[in-house]
Amino acid sequence: MAAVFMGEGYDVGPAPLRMLRTMTLSDTVAWHDFRIDGARLLERLDELAEIGPIDGGGSSRLAFTDADRDGRHLVVGWMRLLGLRVDVDGVGNVVGTWDVGTGAPVMMGSHIDTVRTGGRYDGNYGVIAGLEVIQRCQETGVMPPRPLAVAFFSNEEGARYAPDMMGSLVYVGGLGLEEARAAVGIDGTTVGDEVDRIGYRGTLATPGPVPHAFVEVHIEQGPVLEAEGITIGAVTGVQGISWTEVTVHGQSNHAGTTPMRLRHDPAYVAAELAVFLRRLADGLGGAQVCTMGRIELHPNLINVVPARATCTVDVRNTDEATLQIAEARVAARCDELAAEEGVSITRRPLARFEPVVFHEEVVARVERYAAELGASVRRLPSGAGHDAQMFARVCPTGMIFVPSVRGISHNPAEYTAPEDLILGADLLGRVVLDLATSDLGGQAVAP
Ligand code: HGY
Ligand code: MN
Ligand code: MN
Repeated sequence: MAAVFMGEGYDVGPAPLRMLRTMTLSDTVAWHDFRIDGARLLERLDELAEIGPIDGGGSSRLAFTDADRDGRHLVVGWMRLLGLRVDVDGVGNVVGTWDVGTGAPVMMGSHIDTVRTGGRYDGNYGVIAGLEVIQRCQETGVMPPRPLAVAFFSNEEGARYAPDMMGSLVYVGGLGLEEARAAVGIDGTTVGDEVDRIGYRGTLATPGPVPHAFVEVHIEQGPVLEAEGITIGAVTGVQGISWTEVTVHGQSNHAGTTPMRLRHDPAYVAAELAVFLRRLADGLGGAQVCTMGRIELHPNLINVVPARATCTVDVRNTDEATLQIAEARVAARCDELAAEEGVSITRRPLARFEPVVFHEEVVARVERYAAELGASVRRLPSGAGHDAQMFARVCPTGMIFVPSVRGISHNPAEYTAPEDLILGADLLGRVVLDLATSDLGGQAVAP
């Protein structure tokens, strides 16, 4: 097993100046003047985006690829620069802890893996903003009464290996480590082999230590904040997610000689299912979304009626009961199509997460400090999955959104205005420092 490479050799800039006098939180007016170093935040976002660069200014760092490894090295180097204790678990989750004060840390974090056509901010922003909060505390002598941690979790995207949020799910005990390491990807590799190959199989026990609280700042990835001219989203929770792989087995045949009445065509079934998903979302309305993101035909040749079609169904809703209705209708439609076309269809669940509600005490702090910063703010649920939704199972958790221009994400054109990125990180700092002195009592709000 390759030694775990922990960031040596990366030029990550000068060590932060440490103030001679160390202020404690009681010295400051409850950190109401906390600000991050915006230029450094933006520089680091650009530096990370240059790892696995793709046309259009985005990044491609699928989980546990060499590009993901290189992104990990860079961020671990920044963690080391800050003197953080760096812990790595068996699925490659990395937690940097600033061991000040006493008790469980307030943890910040997100992910640095991307989809194949990723943008510059999805996930990366939450990790780099967390680093920035800690570095500014160190530089300005703000000494929280409890540790602060910043983490990146493996395979949040789930694009190469399902489920998504895999690393944080393992960290909170929702998925066994060996079960995660045994997961087989769309390319036939396993998580365990790839984690070991890139040198990020660590020894931190899983489930990991439970934080005092968890806060993730993230781009909205949707159109709401921009459309309403609002700068900050106080995220109330995450909608339910259901992923299924659908494999259609038909009969391969000659495209020219096979009469239509004799066909058993998986491509036709997959296409019908894709159209059905659109009609299903239109019919259920509200928050319902349905997506067929992958279709693969075999043998995928112009003059061959395919033998097999493999496609994916991603259905989501803020309401669990409606999500179950959507799942049931997809299953029923598959059965109908199998009977009509004389094919066999197998459905393999890939991910299933119920809607999550974030802790009111955290959401309220996001609103309060956004207002203190003079920012417009509104509450909204998240359409995308996030590592925070896993931490909501074990500790008081919340998220901060900043606007996505044109609501675009999972696309190299993903963009958020620099001033919004800086404001979101300032807000993260204030919320986290407040939480560091708050006894929130008890667990997060149950889903
Ligand atoms: O699928 C999602 O919502 C997230 O990007 N993993
Ligand atoms: Mn994300
Ligand atoms: Mn994403």
